[in-house]
Amino acid sequence: MNLRLADLHASLADPLLDAMTFLNEVTTRYPQAVSFAPGRPYEGFFEPEDVPRYLDAYLAHLAERGLDRDAVRTALFQYGPTKGIIADLVARTLASDEGLTVAPESLVLTVGAQEGMLLVLRALCAGPDDVLLVSAPCYVGVTGAARLLDLTTRPVPEGPDGGPDPEAVQAAARAVRAEGRRPRALYVVPDFANPSGTSMPIAARTRLLDVAAEEGVLVVEDNPYGFFARTPGPRPTLKALDRRRQVVHLGSFAKTCFPGARLGYAVADQEVTGPGGRRSLLADELAKLKSMTTVNTPALSQAVIGGMLLTHDCRLRAANSRATAHYAAGMDTLLRELDRHFPASERRRLGVSWNRPDGGFFAVLTVPFAADDAAMERCAREYGVLWTPMAPFYPAGGGEHRLRLSISALTHTQIIDGIAKLAAFITS
Ligand SMILES: Cc1ncc(COP(=O)(O)O)c(C=O)c1O
Repeated sequence: MNLRLADLHASLADPLLDAMTFLNEVTTRYPQAVSFAPGRPYEGFFEPEDVPRYLDAYLAHLAERGLDRDAVRTALFQYGPTKGIIADLVARTLASDEGLTVAPESLVLTVGAQEGMLLVLRALCAGPDDVLLVSAPCYVGVTGAARLLDLTTRPVPEGPDGGPDPEAVQAAARAVRAEGRRPRALYVVPDFANPSGTSMPIAARTRLLDVAAEEGVLVVEDNPYGFFARTPGPRPTLKALDRRRQVVHLGSFAKTCFPGARLGYAVADQEVTGPGGRRSLLADELAKLKSMTTVNTPALSQAVIGGMLLTHDCRLRAANSRATAHYAAGMDTLLRELDRHFPASERRRLGVSWNRPDGGFFAVLTVPFAADDAAMERCAREYGVLWTPMAPFYPAGGGEHRLRLSISALTHTQIIDGIAKLAAFITS
C-alpha cells in the first residue's frame, strides 16, 4: 500500500525534521570535506578497551554490594526498573561535579537527553493551550520533539550576553497569557548553548528564575556542555540555584562519557498531587510515560556508564580534564584563525562577524550572503568545508545570514585548514 506524506503526522512534512537529514546526507557525499557541522565529541579520547573495563568495574561494584550471580543476571540481562539502575551513582556525580543534592528517587535514566525532553514536554503540557517558551536560536532537538507532540512553541530572543533575556521571557509569558493560553515551561541551555555557543551570566540566571517563578513558568534546563568550562570555572547550573523546585534538569552523558551509550537523565524533584491527595514525584510520572515508550533504558548502557563513573570516583569534571583542554584549545584556534583571516578592517568591509564563546563546542559566524543549504553544499563541493546553516534553529524565522561552526570533532590542524578554506569561500 502506498502512502501519502499528507496523510502522515504533520511533523513529517515539516522542513525542521529534514534539516539534519540533509546535513548528514551532504556530509556523506563529501567525506573529504573538513566538517564544522557535527556537534559530536572528539574520538581521539575513546579507547575500545575501556568498554569492557568499565563493565567489569560495574560488575565488581554489584559484587561489593552483595549481589549474587542470579541477582547480577537479573540486573544486566533482564528488563529493568523504568527509572533506571544507576541513579545513586548519577546522584553522587551531580553532588561532586555540580554541588547538587539530588535524591536518587528524583532521577530518571533516559535514552539520551533527547528522550528526557520528550518525556518532560509530554508530562508538562496538558493540552493545546499550553505553550513552551524556547530561546531563539534554539536546539532543534527540542523544537522537533515539540513538533512531534503537536505542542506550540513561542520563541524568546537570546539576550546579548547569552540565554533567553529574562525581561523578554516575562513579556512572552504575559503575551501568551493575554491570548488566553498558559505559558507552561521555558526550555533553556544556559551553558555553551547549541547553536549559539553563548552562556548565561550568573546574575541573569538568578533573574531568570525569579521571572519564571513570578510568571508560574517551569524551567527545563538542558545541560550537555556545562562540563566544558574553563577559568574562572563552571557557572552554577539553574538547578543548583533553584530554591523553589521550579527547574527540571536534563543531563546527558553523550559529551562527558560517549554518545554510543545513548544515556541521559532527568532530575524531576517536583511534587505532584493526585486524586485523594496522593503524592508522587514528577520523576515517577515521567517513568509512567517512559514505560509506554522505551520501557527502560538499556541496562548494558547504564552498566558501562556506571562503571565509568565508578572508575573516576563519580567525578566527571576531573575525568574530562583532557577533553576540556582539547575543546578549549580548539575554540581558541578557531577564534584565532578567524581573526587572522578577517582582520578588523576586512571584517567591516566584508560584513563578517562572529561571537566569542569562552568554551564549549560552538561559535556563530555572520556572513553577507544567505547561509542556506545551497551555499553549504557549494562550499562543500568547491571549497571542501562544511558548516551548519543557522536558520532552522530560529523557530519564527531569522538567522538566514548565520552559520554554526563546531570545533568538537576536529583536530587543530583540521580547524586551521578548514578556516582557510571557509575564508576562501566567503571572499570568493
Ligand atoms: C542542547 C542539546 N541537548 C541535548 C542533546 C542531545 O543529547 P543526547 O545525545 O544525550 O540525547 C544535544 C546534542 O547535541 C544538544 O546539543
